[in-house]
Amino acid sequence: MSVDRPRPLVAGNWKMNGLKSSGEILSALQTSYTPGLKAKVELVVCPPATLVHSFAVASVGSRIAIGAQDCHAKESGAYTGDLSAEMLADAGATYVLAGHSERRQYHKEKDADVCAKAMAAHRAGLTAIVCVGETREEREAGKTIAVVRKQLRGSIPVDSNSHNLVVAYEPVWAIGTGLTPTAADVAEVHAAIRDELKRLVGKADHAKVRILYGGSVKPSNAAELMAVENVNGALVGGASLVAADFLAIAGAYLG
Ligand code: 13P
Repeated sequence: MSVDRPRPLVAGNWKMNGLKSSGEILSALQTSYTPGLKAKVELVVCPPATLVHSFAVASVGSRIAIGAQDCHAKESGAYTGDLSAEMLADAGATYVLAGHSERRQYHKEKDADVCAKAMAAHRAGLTAIVCVGETREEREAGKTIAVVRKQLRGSIPVDSNSHNLVVAYEPVWAIGTGLTPTAADVAEVHAAIRDELKRLVGKADHAKVRILYGGSVKPSNAAELMAVENVNGALVGGASLVAADFLAIAGAYLG
């Protein structure tokens, strides 16, 4: 393991799942987030916005960070139904996802929108987890690397550094399908992301930016995926809703 290797981060994206009663899952995570595991991996839970505040209050002391799933680019204003990064920070979030493929697909978010949201996150003192990834058609056409590099160039703000930016590579075709790229494919894309970060984040800091893999991460494949060069953690959807599975994924770092 190189000395430069950043502290791994395993984040759970609950998507549109979770009610007050789901606090039980957070409690189970807290109980099992042992000093040994804390030493090896950082945990982030991104519940729906309705639960951000109560989860942030409940997780004080456990060192499980709470993230939101989206934010508006502006600080405040007439944007009915939206939430600003400042509001999320006020509610206790320290992370926010930007540009998840479901936002890009269902809300037509473009790279420029994602960049504006990541800038808003930085303005509010949040760490942005900027998501990129190719569709099945793009992969089959051999465009994966070009697509991911273009998304990064369009989505990562100039003020990014290893403290306020995490990148998540999530191939769209791997999300919720049970399909995953091969370890070699993941290595190729993550190496290209690291290379692109050299230009976008700067030589001094680019090696410390965490690059997560996401898309059908399960306890059964976590160890193999997390061992890939330049994979510094996971962004987990479905499996993050089951405390034992999420912990087993994080446990891949216990070796
Ligand atoms: P799954 O882990 O359910 O495939 O979802 C991945 C994802 O979209 C996380 O943001």
